[in-house]
Amino acid sequence: MSTRFASPPSIPTDVLRSAVDWALVTRRATRAFLPTPVPRMDVEAILDVARYCASGVNTQPWHVHVVMGAAKERLTDAIMRVYDDSSLTAKLDEPYDYYPQEWTSPYIDRRRKVGWDLYGLLGIQKSDKDRMHAQHGRNYRFFDAPVGLMFTIDRSMGRGSLIDYGMFLQSIMVAARARGLDTCPQAAFTTFHRIIAEQLAIPEQQMFVCGMSLGYADPSRIENSLATDREAASNFTTFHETANKETDQ
Ligand SMILES: Cc1cc2nc3c(=O)[nH]c(=O)nc-3n(C[C@H](O)[C@H](O)[C@H](O)COP(=O)(O)O)c2cc1C
Repeated sequence: MSTRFASPPSIPTDVLRSAVDWALVTRRATRAFLPTPVPRMDVEAILDVARYCASGVNTQPWHVHVVMGAAKERLTDAIMRVYDDSSLTAKLDEPYDYYPQEWTSPYIDRRRKVGWDLYGLLGIQKSDKDRMHAQHGRNYRFFDAPVGLMFTIDRSMGRGSLIDYGMFLQSIMVAARARGLDTCPQAAFTTFHRIIAEQLAIPEQQMFVCGMSLGYADPSRIENSLATDREAASNFTTFHETANKETDQ
């Protein structure tokens, strides 16, 4: 178990900074994993450090279900039975609005770009609905990762707790990088929240937030070469350093 106020690691500050930056910058959504198992103690170690993330008034609103082995297969099978039957998918609903009701620019443009970049790498045409369906369905096989994480939150919590949750998810993903592991956070599971709740005996009071695949990336797979763009920090940051003109005396 980690000790929160342990002394800093005995490595130079620049090495520490490089290591933290490396873990942040090399985190990417991985969509093909090796079958290499991830020991339960590694999952526990990741959750053990991720739990130190900040949350408003220390509410710590997360609850994690870890699925591995036969339990993961059972969950996948239950979801796939519905996913592959359009008469059943038509009846699915979402636990909450993750995406906007109406997409606007620049978000719609970024969404389209990442989608077509991924399908482009895989050689899937827009018109090839079967291959698109199959590729999207890989979400529910956790992209072959040995570990699936399912996240829930108490329905009584406010919208702000989802900010806390995002930090928790990022902490898990960064802690995974520090152990040579990769992840894919997955909102694709939200549509199947009722099936997930049933399979994992999640109480009604808990709302499904999202899933995550965890494992070792398969470097030979083309989908893992997807490079996503980022805006320069200067494009979304405004520095305020001088007083307003009117008050500048
Ligand atoms: C909360 C959340 C949900 C996501 N859901 C999915 C998903 O269901 N399937 C998927 O393939 N990628 C999913 N992603 C990955 C994003 O597409 C990815 O983070 C984004 O394109 C940026 O790419 P990068 O993570 O590789 O830097 C999700 C990311 C987040 C943060």
